[in-house]
Amino acid sequence: MSPDPDASMPARIGILISGRGSNMIAIADAVRDGRIPNAEIAVVISDQANAAGLVKAKELGLETQVIERRGRKRAEHDREIVAALQARQVDLICLAGYMRILSNVFLDAFRGRILNIHPSLLPLFPGLDPQKQALDQKARQSGCTVHFVDETLDGGPVIAQRIVTILETDTVESLSARILTEEHKLYPEAVAQVLSDNRKG
Ligand code: GRF
Repeated sequence: MSPDPDASMPARIGILISGRGSNMIAIADAVRDGRIPNAEIAVVISDQANAAGLVKAKELGLETQVIERRGRKRAEHDREIVAALQARQVDLICLAGYMRILSNVFLDAFRGRILNIHPSLLPLFPGLDPQKQALDQKARQSGCTVHFVDETLDGGPVIAQRIVTILETDTVESLSARILTEEHKLYPEAVAQVLSDNRKG
């Protein structure tokens, strides 16, 4: 995943979270059981000191770091995160419920190497509350998308998607839960695909 990847070395993944961290766990599980081959989690970084995902990451034996966003300008905050990722020689970054939009400082440092997961079939329903957007629009289906992160809001190139059928009885909670189940399958698959593509050059 580095510009000149050494296929014999495990790819080093950095995961950014702000909250629950269930996608972080899904990726960590997939690394551990070989569904994401030849990779390791270098660090889990949270911009929130009280993120529940931090506790889970520690339970999994992963290295964690808190880089709090509170009161800090985005570029300055991102500079510190970039430095932490570079210090650990991270090749690929997975945003997993990371709730701050990245500045150009971050994008320029890791262009083409930052992935995000979003709970809708992008380009439909970008931004906040995509499950509510889908229900409000009376959509028949929604789902989840893993995409590369660029300057646009949830608009970077799509890597993989999964469809979830919307039921008449669905609430935001029930739809979110069914989409989340699919997210936990899709994100590891997409990470494995990107790492494999990059190894092939
Ligand atoms: C997920 O629905 C993800 O798609 C969105 O934020 C949520 C994060 O959940 N970006 P978790 O922290 O991974 O449990």
